[in-house]
Amino acid sequence: MIKNPLLGIRACVFDAYGTLFDYASAAASCRDALGDKYERFTTLWRDKQLQYTWLRAVQGRHADFQQVTGDALDFALSALDLTDAALRKRLLNLYLTLDTFPEVPETLRRLKSEGIRTAILSNGTPAMLSAVVENAGLAGLLDAVLSVEEVGVYKPHPKVYQLAVDRLKTEAKAIAFQSSNAWDAYAASAFGMHVVWCNRYGQPRERLPGAPDREIKTLAELPDLVVMPRVGLD
Ligand code: LAC
Repeated sequence: MIKNPLLGIRACVFDAYGTLFDYASAAASCRDALGDKYERFTTLWRDKQLQYTWLRAVQGRHADFQQVTGDALDFALSALDLTDAALRKRLLNLYLTLDTFPEVPETLRRLKSEGIRTAILSNGTPAMLSAVVENAGLAGLLDAVLSVEEVGVYKPHPKVYQLAVDRLKTEAKAIAFQSSNAWDAYAASAFGMHVVWCNRYGQPRERLPGAPDREIKTLAELPDLVVMPRVGLD
């Protein structure tokens, strides 16, 4: 059944971490070392990583996502009394081979087969993104992998969303942007893109500018929202 599709979508642009790739999988692979602190550690590492991106953006003191991810990791390890150089190295390496959410390859395949262009728009560095994309075998299913390094500031600065418009040569309202990070979804909506919030984590709505057009639980629901129904076919 078609669920109130968005009309005129020519490109689907995806956030990377938490949307296509499961950032929690890095810590999950190190449960042997993290023990019962594993869940607290995952949340703290991710929260600090995002806070550092926002704080650096506000201060105008950009450092790339590899550094920010490492800095946040050091904070989280220290806060939970887990500091260990070998564990640090292991976790950072795992960030390059994060698990892909299971529905992702088929979703991208379906979009491409319908003539919709696909891209990543992420805080990740080009090297981090190409590693995780290659590892997941998604390179052939993506038309572009766009990093904030091209504009030198993190999401949710409007320059980041503009990068997708410029590089895909597609106006904002013909782009459907997908993120599981609600703040990212709201910012892309405020910028002028159509937005499908992939609310994997069951979060409440943000009280921020913007309003996602649709909310889904996994990306498997996306193609039916953006692919034009064929007239005359059931
Ligand atoms: C990204 C983070 C926000 O991929 O998940 O940009």
